[in-house]
Amino acid sequence: MFTVDSDHSLPKEQFYTLLNKQLAALLEGESDLICNLSQFSAFVMQAVDKLNWAGFYFARNKELVLGPYVGNVACTRIPFGQGVCGTAAQSLTVQRIQDVHQFEGHIACDSASESELVLPILVDGDLIGVLDIDSPVKGRFDADDQAGFELLLNTLVSATQFEWEL
Ligand code: SME
Repeated sequence: MFTVDSDHSLPKEQFYTLLNKQLAALLEGESDLICNLSQFSAFVMQAVDKLNWAGFYFARNKELVLGPYVGNVACTRIPFGQGVCGTAAQSLTVQRIQDVHQFEGHIACDSASESELVLPILVDGDLIGVLDIDSPVKGRFDADDQAGFELLLNTLVSATQFEWEL
């Protein structure tokens, strides 16, 4: 059994460094795309507090298609340029939204979501998809959380084979 050790009393940089070590151990020896993205989603939901959704959308022909996640059922397809996720995909920039109700075009998949962090996933310069993290708390994500999730995402990308093989 893998035990997740997360200590929210630590300064955020140390908190995410500790998580990153555990994530590397969790993914060690496994490179399968669906397996690793599923584990990552569950790990984040278990280890990080005040979240209600964590998971992935894959980029497919200028549309985002729902991938592995943990949370309530969600929208299956989001065109590039729409919502927080589609904005991140089109602009290739991280979207850190303190209050989703103030974001024009926000797509409400889970009515509990109040703030959101979306990171584009680039592999060898190509957009593969986005990592989407939702919180029921306004202003949940600060710059240190963004840096922390960038660290975790780098570990995931390094560990994972993004070519899909049946
Ligand atoms: N809120 C997102 C849609 C995805 S769900 O949050 C899982 C958006 O505006 O793109």
